[in-house]
Amino acid sequence: MTKRIRKAVLPVAGLGTRFLPATKAVPKEMLTVVDRPIIQYVVDEARAAGIEHIVFVTGRNKHVIEDHFDIAYELEETLNTRGKEEALGLLEKFRPEAGTTSFTRQQAPLGLGHAVWCARDLIGNEPFAVLLPDMVMKSEPGCLAQMVQTYEAHGGNVISVEEVPWDQTHKYGVVVKGDTFADGSFPITGMVEKPAQGTAPSNLYINGRYILQPEIFDLLEKQEKGAGGEIQLTDAMLSLMQQQNFFGVEFKGDTYDCGSKAGFLMANIAFALENEELSEEIRPLLQKLLG
Ligand code: G1P
Repeated sequence: MTKRIRKAVLPVAGLGTRFLPATKAVPKEMLTVVDRPIIQYVVDEARAAGIEHIVFVTGRNKHVIEDHFDIAYELEETLNTRGKEEALGLLEKFRPEAGTTSFTRQQAPLGLGHAVWCARDLIGNEPFAVLLPDMVMKSEPGCLAQMVQTYEAHGGNVISVEEVPWDQTHKYGVVVKGDTFADGSFPITGMVEKPAQGTAPSNLYINGRYILQPEIFDLLEKQEKGAGGEIQLTDAMLSLMQQQNFFGVEFKGDTYDCGSKAGFLMANIAFALENEELSEEIRPLLQKLLG
């Protein structure tokens, strides 16, 4: 029997320099894809996979994320007085229940591994998920839910991967894949963070979703700086692989890297086209723009 995955860590301390000046006063996680901030998609994906508690690892200037997941008392009172049931229902639907979110600060930008380590006390001694909010996924069931299926079948640690063109592998963490099981998942036998051009062991990149055992925290504590001079989660996972199994799942769905302008814009177009009313309106406009 595997222990259920109840908690998830969402690292949201990044500066969002690629989106300046938009992200000068607004965290990049609060930029909107159609009608919801990026972070909402990721929280919804986690909750749909059975996550009960979300730990946000934040930084300075990120407090609106906390406000977004709280009750907006004045707004909701006004909507109530005006009988705006639909708007009220919408706010309620997207709000995690009281007591199911925690916020801690990374304090210094030392890398993804360090950000995850900052959540150690709030996670405690149980397996947990990590979701990187830059990556917005579109699929049914969601990416984390697909991984939970593999976790329930095999236990251990589970990582979601996708194929990427070989000339893009240097931008990501890349895994070494073993022989595929009947259920489509596979053992992961190695991994490397941001391999130099031409040296990647595969073109399967880590797309920002992880299920990890709590032993990772001890390794993160001792982890030395790796690629880019940062404490890398990938390096600590490679160490953990000496003691525990790692499994890969190839994600079935679409991923939008909202850390890049092109990915962010594509996410907006893709989710807008999926929305019936909007789709009707924008389809002809898009066609006209494309000539
Ligand atoms: C991080 C991880 C990397 C992963 C990527 C996915 O890198 O370190 O392994 O492939 O996210 O977006 P970052 O994008 O923070 O450089």
